[in-house]
Amino acid sequence: MNTNSIKDLLSGKHLLQEVTVSGWVKTFRSNRFIALNDGSTIQNIQCVVDFEKLDESLLKQVSTGAAIKVKGTLVESQGKGQSVEIQVASLEIHGGADPETYPIQPKKHTLEFLREKAHLRVRTNTFSAVMRMRSALSFAVHQYFQQNGFYHVHTPIITGSDAEGAGEIFKVSTLDSKKPPLKEDGSVDYSEDFFGKETNLTVSGQLEAETYAMGLGKVYTFGPTFRAENSNTSRHLAEFWMIEPEMAFYDLDANMDLAEDFIKSVLSYVLENCKDDLEFLEKRLLDEEKTKPAAERSEMPLIEKLKFITDNNFKRVSYTEAIEILRNCKPNKKKKFKYIINEWGADLQSEHERFLVEKHFKCPVILFDYPAKIKAFYMRLNEDGKTVRAMDILFPGIGEIVGGSQREERLDVLLEKMKALDIDEKELWWYTDLRKYGSAVHSGFGLGFERLVLFATGMGNIRDVIPFPRTPQNAEF
Ligand code: 4AD
Ligand code: MG
Repeated sequence: MNTNSIKDLLSGKHLLQEVTVSGWVKTFRSNRFIALNDGSTIQNIQCVVDFEKLDESLLKQVSTGAAIKVKGTLVESQGKGQSVEIQVASLEIHGGADPETYPIQPKKHTLEFLREKAHLRVRTNTFSAVMRMRSALSFAVHQYFQQNGFYHVHTPIITGSDAEGAGEIFKVSTLDSKKPPLKEDGSVDYSEDFFGKETNLTVSGQLEAETYAMGLGKVYTFGPTFRAENSNTSRHLAEFWMIEPEMAFYDLDANMDLAEDFIKSVLSYVLENCKDDLEFLEKRLLDEEKTKPAAERSEMPLIEKLKFITDNNFKRVSYTEAIEILRNCKPNKKKKFKYIINEWGADLQSEHERFLVEKHFKCPVILFDYPAKIKAFYMRLNEDGKTVRAMDILFPGIGEIVGGSQREERLDVLLEKMKALDIDEKELWWYTDLRKYGSAVHSGFGLGFERLVLFATGMGNIRDVIPFPRTPQNAEF
């Protein structure tokens, strides 16, 4: 179909030419002015109709939400806030939208209301801006790795391993869940399952990505990952997308350098390429913040905040240093931490992470060298015998955005660790093989894509940056 995009038309390229546009009606005023949007940009184009020339029954169907096609001439506009408009010569209805029942009205809807209309919410300005940003960030991710010598590897979604060992897995089975075959000891007999063993949806593509890094050198995965954690927070989803680069011959320092450069690069990309959407989202956030108490408002407008990240170094701090800071600080004269850190070895809660980033250092922080006991089995043990070469990147307003590490490349140390954690060696024979044949120092990290989109768009809830959020309450769509 030979149609023009509104984005192109607003750039003024086709002035005084005959143009055709298809889109959805935002508003129809005075039986004369249609604000039309086709998703190509946050801006609408004004289409001016002469109701005397058009059929009345046709115009009756032009209402908010209707899909229409207009043909006409692109002319300079006398109206405020727009440079061009279409003088409509003909109009066609693709599909009407009954104003009595169409839920997305030209007024401000709450984000909670729109979450229940996940199939229609992309027709609002906020969600169209967020989803264009999401798409641009996804492109920037691939571009960054492709331009820096990485290969994209598609790791499996159904797997027999639980990379993180946290037990938050969704089982996959073809067995009758009400009457599964049982073994003599009463446990489910998975040998009769389609896969002949117990399988689950992947929590991370890391272990498989490691195998490819040990042959292709530098690889990345970017796919859906699943966690059955029942955490109803504005930062957790049961299904989220993760970007996981894995690099042979990279130690932890090189890993941190890469992660920082990567995040800065993708944020620079949207600063350059998504100006209109960012301006809209910045204004949306400013309006929203006006309703909050002053202490909770963000100190910087969105675009300035993104530029601050791209232009400044992240602060690198060891876990041990961070613990000292947290033990000696007073987060707020009145309000203390809910969970007080008393001793070395305790896991940090998000209140501590956010304190370090937002109050203490006032910039992104890379925490490294965590206690081995609170991290996954595959991380490289340090010479002190009690910390591992792990790193987490903490972001203002978000908390943890990246988790990564240098991997344990020594077979004997890895096997000992697996034994201590009761991880069956036979289950991960392929993973330990990597340490038997041509093992080498290697590292990688995982970045939660939705947390990145959350940060870049200034939205407050992770459910509003993925098209169809999967959370404990919601899997309707
Ligand atoms: O820290 P995590 O659990 O690390 C891993 O899975 C490693 N295997 C990654 C690697 O080294 N290749 O998760 C990595 C990131 C977190 O920092 C967070 O941004 C995101 O994934 N994440 C979630 N995002 C949304 N909802 C959840 N439930 C998430 N769990 C983790
Ligand atoms: Mg983590």
